[in-house]
Amino acid sequence: MDFIKKETAKAVYSAISDIGYSDLFDINNITEMLEYPPNPENGDLAFPCFRLSKIMRKSPAAIAIDLASKIKICGTITRFETVGGYLNFFFDKNGFTKIMLSQILEKGEKYGSSDEGKGKTVVIDYSSPNVAKPFHIGHLGTTVIGHSIKKLHEFSGYKCVGINHLGDWGTQFGKLIVAYRKWGSKNVISEGGIDELVKLYVRFHTEAEKDPSLDDMARAEFTKLEHGDAENRNLWKWFIDISLTEYKKTYAQLGIEFDSYCGESFYYDKVPAVIDKMKKCGILTVDNGATLIDLEKYGMPPCLILKSDGSTLYAARDIAAALYRKKTYDFSKCIYVTDAGQSLHFKQWFKVISLMGYDFENQLFHVPYGKVSIGGAKLATRTGNVILLKDLFKTAIEKVEKITEEKNPGLENKEEVAEAVGVGAIVYNYLSGGRIKNIDFTIEDALSFEGNTGPYAQYTYARTCSIISKAKESGKYSLIHNKEFTVSADEEFQLLKTLALFPEKVKSALDGYEPSVITRYIFDTATAFNHFYHGCQVLNNEDNSVTATRIALTEATGNVLKSAFGLICMKAPKKI
Ligand code: ARG
Repeated sequence: MDFIKKETAKAVYSAISDIGYSDLFDINNITEMLEYPPNPENGDLAFPCFRLSKIMRKSPAAIAIDLASKIKICGTITRFETVGGYLNFFFDKNGFTKIMLSQILEKGEKYGSSDEGKGKTVVIDYSSPNVAKPFHIGHLGTTVIGHSIKKLHEFSGYKCVGINHLGDWGTQFGKLIVAYRKWGSKNVISEGGIDELVKLYVRFHTEAEKDPSLDDMARAEFTKLEHGDAENRNLWKWFIDISLTEYKKTYAQLGIEFDSYCGESFYYDKVPAVIDKMKKCGILTVDNGATLIDLEKYGMPPCLILKSDGSTLYAARDIAAALYRKKTYDFSKCIYVTDAGQSLHFKQWFKVISLMGYDFENQLFHVPYGKVSIGGAKLATRTGNVILLKDLFKTAIEKVEKITEEKNPGLENKEEVAEAVGVGAIVYNYLSGGRIKNIDFTIEDALSFEGNTGPYAQYTYARTCSIISKAKESGKYSLIHNKEFTVSADEEFQLLKTLALFPEKVKSALDGYEPSVITRYIFDTATAFNHFYHGCQVLNNEDNSVTATRIALTEATGNVLKSAFGLICMKAPKKI
């Protein structure tokens, strides 16, 4: 769509210059002001004159008329109209189709990508569960929003480093060690994995309520771990391994791989150097034995660095991690994806980075997302009000398997497809709304396959694949190489205009850290394609150029959907 927006902006700019306001705007401002009219009767692109009204001291409608008298149309615009305060431009359908469709097909999988981030590195810190605690629906947000943000950056030319900042350090390990020695068994844990660790953790809490001395024991075991006690370190490593094995199964279902699993423990021995630097900057205060940084001047509570027993705190490890990452990756952005409950934590320590004299506070970004509840109730590990991701995925996959058994029992790679569709349904559902909105999660909604859902989108993609293979079998596919594209139905033109928006949607999702832009776009594209498919005969037309255009549109839709799925962690099976 870029080229035609530029053409239109040029025409508008030259008209604005003709009426004497050339110094107020440039082509870029005007390009940004162009809008897509929701109703095609109002044209394909519109220039609203409202912002000009104040400067020119005239009504928007009068300005539109003035500009209209000066506009010289050219290129792919055939005509324009003034309606109220708008100038509405209409594309030359065939001209637009020839250029746009050839462009999309030529770029193939690269269509929508850009090199905006060339030479820049972005670090994305996401998922990052706390080891030995359940990996549940509350973690879905950071995992899929984080991965989507990574994919969006990669697609836009950035070099990306995805880091799983595992919560693998802290007093919970003291608790687990105590619980394991008291009630645990090696065999049970080796077989039962993370579920058994979670049981131990939960049991610890119940027992500690009756016997608070357990907490002291846990603290003592953690201190031993911090000091390198060999037995405790072995246990701790084992707990992490067990947890990671489990997480990695879930990540594989989502198609996620991390570039680094350096968790919190990796940084704890890097904290003393950070403390030295803080001391040199004179920003540390000791209060009741705890070491902190006062942030009252900035309207925030103090940032806690060390506990009174000298052990490192979450923020201290985050600061050490940021310095390490800056040195190691020389990032131009480091993005942290967590729920909005941690916003203050990030605001606080980002400020500390500046107070320490570093100049990259403005390269640190916290991307928050809304809280998840289940049927109106808060998630609570200890009361069991959680839905484990692996259980959720399992239920979804089983539902798909059942449907496949009824509708398409002969399907190849049934298991793989069921996983892609089941998991895709959940991801799509989660990423449908703006990320900051709180979500009340219900299994029924997440597993609904009707209307605006992942399976609907994947089914549409599979439909494009089946049409393309039929086109290839019948030998008609090669018609698209002549590039003789013509528009003969409105559905074709509407679909093409939707496909033309992909690069802009990628940019908007990237800039707003907002994967839901892509999810909504997938729905628009799938809907436009299905209108086209139901309204137009694709393969059997008398006129070869009509068939060529329709095959090309189908292929272009498939390309766009596949790329868009990739941007939101959804797989694209060719057959469903
Ligand atoms: N492990 C933390 C949690 O589960 C999230 C870590 C986010 N990343 C970070 N660098 N603080 O709440």
